[in-house]
Amino acid sequence: MLKNAGVALLPLIEGLRAAGAVGLRYAAGSRRMAGAIRAAPMGLFLRELLDAPAGVGAVWPSSEHLARGMAARIDPRGDGLVVELGAGTGVVTRALLDRGVPADRLRVVECSPAFVRHLRRRFPGVIILRGDAARLSDVLDESAAGRPVDAIVSSLPLRSLDPAVVSAVLDQCRTLLRPGCTLVQFTYALRGLPVAGLSEGFMVRDDPVVWANLPPARVIALERTD
Ligand SMILES: C[S@@+](CC[C@H](N)C(=O)[O-])C[C@H]1O[C@@H](n2cnc3c(N)ncnc32)[C@H](O)[C@@H]1O
Repeated sequence: MLKNAGVALLPLIEGLRAAGAVGLRYAAGSRRMAGAIRAAPMGLFLRELLDAPAGVGAVWPSSEHLARGMAARIDPRGDGLVVELGAGTGVVTRALLDRGVPADRLRVVECSPAFVRHLRRRFPGVIILRGDAARLSDVLDESAAGRPVDAIVSSLPLRSLDPAVVSAVLDQCRTLLRPGCTLVQFTYALRGLPVAGLSEGFMVRDDPVVWANLPPARVIALERTD
């Protein structure tokens, strides 16, 4: 537990370092970010963070800027499913809907019962599945009704989760996504990949840094190769 808590603090330490490095640039965006932060259901997020630090793996909910940066990498057209992993408070879910992804194409997978209750209240028209992303095919099962998965958008904390879970999640992503399909993952690592396994079967399309997030984060958009 202590080890997990330590790993979960990594993003905070790196974020503070990065925040120091960007100094004024970060301060300039702080007023906009304060608005985004106030909008987040902080009490719920903090309770879940204390309960499962390695599973939440973030010290603050994602900002709307980060969520929009992730959603912008998703093509809202098409018939296949868009699957969101680790939705937490639902900031990215909101951004995907605002991006134009129809609610009936969206499947949201979250393992925390408290977050699932919150997400179901917040998005009554979206299918919210309680389950482990490491068993994604089983979790999607009936609700997918044979539809292919066009894109996966993940807020899972790949660096603080158990490596066996991460490896299973990435296997699921490789199995469900066909060549050309998109995987979006955010990370607090401002350089490189958060875990080496992400390079297997995927190629990085782009990876912009979002400074208006606490800590600053990077959106990595990957394309399934073969
Ligand atoms: C970084 S937090 C999500 C942040 C979210 N964007 C927000 O602002 O609230 C990671 C989320 O992944 C969820 N999670 C962790 N491991 C999971 C797993 N194996 N399957 C599904 N969800 C998982 C956690 O419960 C948490 O909600």
